Amino acid sequence: MKKFIYITLTALLACSCGYNRQGLNFNPKNGVEAELTMPDGQVVKYTAYERLFYVRNVEDSAYQYMNIYVPEGATKQSPIFLRTYVGGYMAAKARQPQAGDATGRALREGYVVAIPGSRGRNSVQDGIYTGRAPKGLLDLKAAVRYLRLFDRVMPGNADRIVIDGTSAGGAMAALVGATGNALAYEPLLEAMGAAKAKDDVYAAVCYCPITDLEHADMAYEWLYNGTVSRQQSPTEMRAVSNELKEQFPAYINGLGLKDWEGNPLTADNYTDLLIRELIRSAQTAKNAGADISDTLGFVFSEETKGGLPPLNGGMAQALQVIPARKAQRGEYVIGLDLPRYLNYVVSTQPLKTAPAFDTKGILGQTASGENELFGDEKGGSVNFTVFGAYKNGSELPKEVVDNVYLMNPMNFIGTVEDKDGKAGEKKLATVAPHWYIRHGARDRDTGFPIPLNLALKLHNSGCDVNFLFAWNRPHSGDYALDELFTWLGGIM
Ligand code: DHB
Repeated sequence: MKKFIYITLTALLACSCGYNRQGLNFNPKNGVEAELTMPDGQVVKYTAYERLFYVRNVEDSAYQYMNIYVPEGATKQSPIFLRTYVGGYMAAKARQPQAGDATGRALREGYVVAIPGSRGRNSVQDGIYTGRAPKGLLDLKAAVRYLRLFDRVMPGNADRIVIDGTSAGGAMAALVGATGNALAYEPLLEAMGAAKAKDDVYAAVCYCPITDLEHADMAYEWLYNGTVSRQQSPTEMRAVSNELKEQFPAYINGLGLKDWEGNPLTADNYTDLLIRELIRSAQTAKNAGADISDTLGFVFSEETKGGLPPLNGGMAQALQVIPARKAQRGEYVIGLDLPRYLNYVVSTQPLKTAPAFDTKGILGQTASGENELFGDEKGGSVNFTVFGAYKNGSELPKEVVDNVYLMNPMNFIGTVEDKDGKAGEKKLATVAPHWYIRHGARDRDTGFPIPLNLALKLHNSGCDVNFLFAWNRPHSGDYALDELFTWLGGIM
């Protein structure tokens, strides 16, 4: 009887103005038929639901809504592909599906596609900056909650949400993936009038995530300090680079990571793993037919069979015994002269200056996008690393420390939250069980350790992680879509 009343009430509510729940609206009757022509000429028909505001207390109506696209034939079981177009930590509009990126492909594959807008470091309303950290992230989490709130009355399965993003958007995907139902965001989401619903997702697809921002400067200098480019920079910049580089080993040791096989990873063997990952990148490309120049630093052999050399010792030995210049050609990539490879990476795109992220006031540099991200509503920008604050003769205010914490997925993976929820409760966040992480093998926008550490921390905490430095890719995303959708098909 109860069920009958519920269904009748639900049907009655749906027929006029749609559903109103917790002050949020969705009307299944408001869909508009449309179609998308794919690059190969195939036409995908879908129903569009646009301008769905996902919070009650809308602060910036240019961004705080979502568009949802339901392809012909989708059911309540269809997975949901949630794409964020955040770039540079700026505001992103809710867009329509694009034939040339993962949204068009997802639609064709039968996924319900959700494209939320979100505020960012540059969004302004009446002189107030509306999207300083962590607000852009809160918007995306609120969008997930909206999908869960209306799950029963909307096509698509909110237990099968995949979030996809690139660069700062890749970082946002990592954050949404890692911070599901985390208490630390609860009061903030409540104040925005987000739905009271779960906000964990099923999978995160992170292309070149610019994340772990407070450790990104040290990782960058640890990696690139020895390049000819950095060594040719002015003396003061080299000094800053040296200082930052020195901080990285303690950070790595403190992370307590393990490699893929479960061996402890420390500052002493970290380079070995990085080399192994770059070799895996090159070998994967070679297996697919890529021609890899002798000049990049890779060592090839006809002889080494049976997979990659061992992680420790074997690799270091191979590097010493076979000078890169005398490399023989062969099917197997068995070594890498890392300094040589890094000089190559930097030759394809100039290095960022040092520090790469927290630049404000250091060596006379102006604020970076990240300095703005953590800045205030008046449009100010701030240092967000201990190093940056120290160099400017100050300390990080608590508010900045809190926001930096909320913007780092590493804080939520496999660890009980540090920050209390409303009632002083602590618990584990619901981390997405499936992760696809790619970072271009010649992407210098952040150091290779950043995406690698994210992938390892997830793997160490039991998540399914598909990680690769994508061969020859610069800073970019939504590539190799056949591969991505094959992987997605496998986890659904
Ligand atoms: C992006 C790129 C960067 O180099 C950076 O520091 C932050 C964001 C981006 O492309 O989104």
